[in-house]
Amino acid sequence: MRVPFVDLAAQHAEIADEVRSGLDAVFAATAFVGGPEVTAFEQEYAEFVGVDHCVGVANGTDALELALRGAGVTAGSEVIVPANTFIATAEAVSRIGARPVPVDVDEEHLLIDPVAVAEAITGVTSAVVAVHLFGQLAPLDELAEICGDAGIALVEDAAQSQGARWRGRVVGGLGRVAATSFYPGKNLGAAGDAGAVTTADPELAARVRLLANHGSATRYVHDVIGMNSRLDAVQAVYLRAKLGRLDKWNDLRGRAALRYAELLADVPGIQCPGAIEPEGHVWHLYVIRVDERDRVLQALGEAGIGAGIHYPTPVHLTGAYRGLGLGPGTAPIAEAAAGRILSLPMHPHLTEDMQARVAEVLVAAANGGAR
Ligand SMILES: Cc1ncc(COP(=O)(O)O)c(C=O)c1O
Repeated sequence: MRVPFVDLAAQHAEIADEVRSGLDAVFAATAFVGGPEVTAFEQEYAEFVGVDHCVGVANGTDALELALRGAGVTAGSEVIVPANTFIATAEAVSRIGARPVPVDVDEEHLLIDPVAVAEAITGVTSAVVAVHLFGQLAPLDELAEICGDAGIALVEDAAQSQGARWRGRVVGGLGRVAATSFYPGKNLGAAGDAGAVTTADPELAARVRLLANHGSATRYVHDVIGMNSRLDAVQAVYLRAKLGRLDKWNDLRGRAALRYAELLADVPGIQCPGAIEPEGHVWHLYVIRVDERDRVLQALGEAGIGAGIHYPTPVHLTGAYRGLGLGPGTAPIAEAAAGRILSLPMHPHLTEDMQARVAEVLVAAANGGAR
């Protein structure tokens, strides 16, 4: 039995009819960039998140750049980011001309560590990016207090956490501004690249919308230097169809996570991920830690089981960020975890049989190492 890492075809099968009729309408109206579908999605996503404003943009990296710029981050400042994140978190900072400052994560959840954040603040720090990694919320209370005391912005990277909740409130509406990615494999995935910025702040939303549309609120009037980052109608149709299923799909991910925890409990050499707030975690990725990770990954691959590493190299040790001059030892927990983390198949359509097969191969591979 092959077990895919994600199963976009199964998701598509559930929404295919809805998407077909939505696309027919888009192609009949030829409203491709912006238009009623985009406006409807922006309203529905804002409502889902619990804020007044959602600005649909071209991808998650743009969303982060725009959220940071909207929150006042400018060239020459420093922005604190977790060392363990997708590279886009840092790229968005660099694109503004600011300097990303990667800091360590906590040992248990691999989320940005507030203590490391507090230590990294300097006179030129303008913001902290709280990445809600793997579907789980970063420690917002502590980070909000640190940022409030320092007078700097707290920007959320919610690319991996659509639908995640903190004390009943949905991610994207917890702080001043959040950016998200609707890359196809995300919990809420488009049929291509897409992203959004969400905020309760009308001025920030207006600034993001202006920047994302060539710095223009009125056609051919350009008051600031912006960019082209707009959501298109095809993506909006797809996202509207999936949004109606997001909570159900996230629940199914949660059940799959519980099953993995049962199947892999007490297996020597395997550490399952915990959840800070089990009800609120949306399990974008199920990241275990395992001894001899590369050998285990290879065994899974040979058995037809999709698995991955998120992420093999902490930001400061990538070639792209060599220029930061931060060597090994900068973020010891993230660096040590990078050699042991392994992401198992995780998606709403994972069956019990599939998970049993993953566990079978995994346990055999882990035991193989012990012999
Ligand atoms: C944590 C994180 N931040 C940012 C991004 C960037 O999103 P995109 O690929 O849509 O630009 C992604 C996803 O790819 C991500 O996982």
